[in-house]
Parts: sequence; C-alpha cells; structure tokens
Amino acid sequence: MKEKQTQFLEMIKDIRSLPTIPGIVIKILSSIDDERTSFKEISSLIASDQTLSARVLRLANSPFYSVKNKISSISQAMLMLGSNAVKGLVLSTVVFKMMEKSAMGLWEHSLGTATAAHIIAKALKVAKAEEISTAALLHDIGKVIIRTKLKDEYEELLLQVEEKGISIKEAEMAWLDTDHTEIGEWAGRTWNLPEELIEPIACHHDVERSKAHQERTAIVHLADILVMASGFGFSGDRFVPPIQEAAYKVLDLNDPILEALIEEIESKLIEVKDFSQTQ
Ligand SMILES: [Fe+2]
Ligand SMILES: [Fe+2]
Repeated sequence: MKEKQTQFLEMIKDIRSLPTIPGIVIKILSSIDDERTSFKEISSLIASDQTLSARVLRLANSPFYSVKNKISSISQAMLMLGSNAVKGLVLSTVVFKMMEKSAMGLWEHSLGTATAAHIIAKALKVAKAEEISTAALLHDIGKVIIRTKLKDEYEELLLQVEEKGISIKEAEMAWLDTDHTEIGEWAGRTWNLPEELIEPIACHHDVERSKAHQERTAIVHLADILVMASGFGFSGDRFVPPIQEAAYKVLDLNDPILEALIEEIESKLIEVKDFSQTQ
C-alpha cells in the first residue's frame, strides 16, 4: 500500500503534468506579485487574452461578489476587487476549465462557498470580502488537481467515501497519504499565489492550524459547511462536518448570527444556481 501511495503522490506532485496553466496565466500570476509591474501593465496583460479576460469579467460580475455596478473592464475589476482577488479569478478560470462536466457538483460547491464567504465577511464586517470570497472559490482546488491526475482512482475513492461512510479527506489520506488541502497548498505555492489565498485553502478543515490569516480561514471553513448543509452543489462528502470550535471563537459566532447567515446565504444561492447553469 505504501508503495502505491508514494506512486500516487509522485504522480500528483509531478509539476510537468501541470501544464494546463498557460504561459500567459503564469506571467500574470507572477506579475501581480512583482511590485515593479504597474497596475496598468497587469490589466493590459490580462486584457491581451480575450477569452481569459471575458472569463474573468464574467466571474467578477457573478452573484457571489454582488457588485452594484457592472464591472466592464479588467482595470475596473482590479480597482473594485483588489489585485489578489483578480489573481485568484485568473487562476479559477483555468482550474475550473480542467474539470469535466461530471464535476459540475464541485464547481457549484465552489461557487456556493465563494458566495457564502462573501456574505459572512460582509455581515461580520471583516475587511477584503472579495479576496476572502476568491479564496473560498479556490478552497477545494486540491480536489480538482487530484481528480484530473488520477481519474479512475478518484472515482473509486468517491465510492469508498460512500460505502465506508468516511469523509473525502479521510479517504484521500488512506489512499494517497495526502489530501486536497495539502495538494491545494502545494499547488498554490507552485503557482505563486499570495499567502492570503493559500492559508484558507490549506487550513479550511483545520482552522486551529491557521496562524497568520485565521479569521479568513474560519470564514471559508464556515462557508464550506453552510453550503454543504444547504444541499447546494456537491463537494464529494455525504456528511456535513460540525463547525469547529476555533471558528466559533475567532468569528465570535452564536446561534442568532448563524441563523441570520443561513437565511441570507440560502436566498442568494438561488441566484448562483442560475449563474452556474449558464457556464
Ligand atoms: Fe475541502
Ligand atoms: Fe469544500
């Protein structure tokens, strides 16, 4: 078994098989990090790829950010959402293209979690809601990567989750000796994502482990659970895990707050459903 696990891990972590990220995207991701690149240069870099900028704008105008006025250019998106959020959006357009139609449930789960995270951040008055929402959009990115690399094995893994009544993270650990949070973190580093996006991806199932960005990690954790509980999309898990104590503490949650959040999230998810079906 150990040998098989190592083999899987090598396949997943083989950087050469991550070529689905086009050169232009790599360039955009590293340019946003580089302070010498101006805002205008980044905008025109994104705008130079028509398909990419159309996709970014579509996501920027999606119901999960609920911007009041339509965002019609990349520079406007950079201004209104912030460069880290745009960086996450650029990456999401590529990553989600990697998913086949059969992973529609995971796409909807991701969109739903991004929406819920935005609502939670706004309601709790946490700054940079758009960036948190983008981290939520990418939170299960590790699942997309594992799925793309190990197609048949992943189907088998999902069956195990169902048969044994375990969580997808437990099944990943048993089969691959790693899980989607670890793979997501690794990919985030490989692609040069900012820490603000990496930490919620890495720690959304273990809020306590998050150190520098615990508040936003707790929001992504909570958003993930509330979306699973609402039955929107499909993350691969049959059971909804409990909200972790650390998240209650960091966000200062109580039952009335949670009830209000659930109500707002569920009504917004109806709009997200329409959006995801026109993809
Ligand atoms: Fe997850
Ligand atoms: Fe999730």
